Amino acid sequence: MTKTALITGASSGIGLALARQFAGEGWNLVLVARRQAQLEHLAKQLKDEFGVNSHCIAIDLSKENSARVLHDEVRFRNLEIDCLVNNAGRGHYGAFIDQPREISEETLYLNITTLTSLCHLFGKEFSNRGNGYILNIASVAAFIPGPGMAIYNATKSYVLSLSRALHAELADDGVTVTASCPGPTESEFFDKAGTDNLKAMEYIKLMPASQVAKEAYRALMKGQSVVVHGVLNKMMTETTRWLPRSWVAPMVKSLMR
Ligand SMILES: NC(=O)c1ccc[n+]([C@@H]2O[C@H](COP(=O)([O-])OP(=O)(O)OC[C@H]3O[C@@H](n4cnc5c(N)ncnc54)[C@H](OP(=O)(O)O)[C@@H]3O)[C@@H](O)[C@H]2O)c1
Repeated sequence: MTKTALITGASSGIGLALARQFAGEGWNLVLVARRQAQLEHLAKQLKDEFGVNSHCIAIDLSKENSARVLHDEVRFRNLEIDCLVNNAGRGHYGAFIDQPREISEETLYLNITTLTSLCHLFGKEFSNRGNGYILNIASVAAFIPGPGMAIYNATKSYVLSLSRALHAELADDGVTVTASCPGPTESEFFDKAGTDNLKAMEYIKLMPASQVAKEAYRALMKGQSVVVHGVLNKMMTETTRWLPRSWVAPMVKSLMR
């Protein structure tokens, strides 16, 4: 039986690369994001290239109750999901107090509330059935406070913590939960985040989204709890664990100018 993966944020960047990775492994897909045209285009490409079937669902996941609406739509279409990939997410660069409150609240809803509800809705089904996969895209930002992107880093810490807890809780039910923690990656993320004037971006080498997708898929299939992508990112996350806590936020603040 061909398995089906539901991927949020499949219209660009890491989500699109994950869709290609799963399709390459023979999975059918449910592609979710706001931009319907991009999803339809990708669905056709995946059919032509890998012969897999995709359903496209256009929805804004930063809106109240969107996880329930998405779950209902999946049931309405009679689709059985074997893997949930919570990838849709966003972040905004700038001082915390200067961020419009509505934007911050939408980010919290998308990165935290919807992700949590989808884990709950699909996780329950997987648990009752005795198998299933959940891949949550966190970030290396999860390991450090982020002056300049305070809300973003905090949401990713939440995603990492939730995923590690669910990995332990759901293991006995046959459900694998993995948190993927990419560093800076080729996608639309930084354009949307407004980091154009950020000096540090000049020195950062972006990882191809396809590499993140490949490593995340492998980690999920191996049943790993957490995967940090790339040697430098692994070193960074390990190093910050051993530094005095009082040093870390000021260090990040100086890099985020
Ligand atoms: N790029 C990096 O350096 C990096 C590093 C670590 C972690 N990440 C994480 O990786 C994930 C994917 O980001 P990316 O880098 O691939 O950026 P991206 O190219 O901007 O992709 C974001 C995806 O999320 C979707 N999305 C955004 N807001 C949405 C909403 N309100 N409702 C539904 N879908 C929404 C977008 O589709 P639509 O616009 O069509 O809705 C798009 O498909 C995010 O969780 C991000 O935090 C990225």
